[in-house]
Amino acid sequence: MKKCVFSGIRATGRLHLGNYLGAVKGFLEIQEKGDYEMVYCVVDVHSITTPYKPDELKKNKREIIIDYLAAGLDPKKSILIYQSDIPEHMELAFYFSTVETIARMMHLPTYKEKVKQYPQSNTMALLNYPILMAADILIYKAGLVPVGIDQEPHLEVAREIARKMNQTYGTDFPEPVRFATKGEYIPSLTGEGKMSKTVVNSFINLTDSLEEIRKKIRSVPTATAAGGEMSPGLKTLFTFAQLFIPSEVEGFKKSYEGRTLQFVTLKDRIAEAIYADLKPFQERRVKIAADQKYVDEVIKDGAARARKIARETVREVKEKMGLS
Ligand code: TYM
Repeated sequence: MKKCVFSGIRATGRLHLGNYLGAVKGFLEIQEKGDYEMVYCVVDVHSITTPYKPDELKKNKREIIIDYLAAGLDPKKSILIYQSDIPEHMELAFYFSTVETIARMMHLPTYKEKVKQYPQSNTMALLNYPILMAADILIYKAGLVPVGIDQEPHLEVAREIARKMNQTYGTDFPEPVRFATKGEYIPSLTGEGKMSKTVVNSFINLTDSLEEIRKKIRSVPTATAAGGEMSPGLKTLFTFAQLFIPSEVEGFKKSYEGRTLQFVTLKDRIAEAIYADLKPFQERRVKIAADQKYVDEVIKDGAARARKIARETVREVKEKMGLS
């Protein structure tokens, strides 16, 4: 049997450059290798663990499948699914919750951040988030997970659960590791923290026009920090330069050191390069979005293929846990 890869993206908005460089580029790299069974998911159930609007979720989740296809995921090679189409994920998460403690979940930095962000919504669903994520991955016995570096604490939980299940019940879950891309951490355009859907003015959408990208990149603060150090905003620009125009980085660094760098020149060059990278994606997206029947078929076919694998794992776990 081929080794399995799993990853997922929440349907909380449209995809941004961080999702693309930290996750989707990894999906494509792995698809290119061709030696894995791949499942790429829109984790719609994870999307309801923080406040949301049902009609927006319904729309957003479909947009992400379209993004996956436009980015180059081939449904013949990769299984594309909605998490809620495979109820076994939620069933397995409940079984997994018997080997994980409340204290461990409450101490996760990702949980604490979310509670800070949404103090009115400190729910059981939020606390259970990492357990459901472990179930997403382990239901396919996936050993490799292409995600950004921010997901590392969650992967650690998945490894812990795999170990505990194997020790306690004699299952054979792998301990999943992260598949890292060059863009594993994309900084925010504000110069503070990471690019994120929930932080305004922090992100570039994959569907942004050249004008929009230029405007956003021009807004990155470049005022010099005290002590002559590179400011966080300028560091952000050089991160983008390294990813999109690597052969030009040395030249820009030299002119920065020689104090001749015009920030707007660097910014506009980066904006152009980002847009050039996104343009083929945007063109494919328009075509795919026009063929809703095709999108429906992809979702239906993905669910049928994924469910077969998921059912088998749940059957195995129920047997080992004495439930059947
Ligand atoms: P989510 O929806 O927050 O993000 C989706 C993917 O994009 C990556 N990402 C970034 N990478 C680099 N720089 C950034 N600024 C940046 N922002 C986001 C994330 O690391 C992620 O890979 N918990 C997951 C969803 C999930 C999942 C799973 C992932 C649920 N079950 C099972 C993998 C396997 C999340 O919230 O991703």
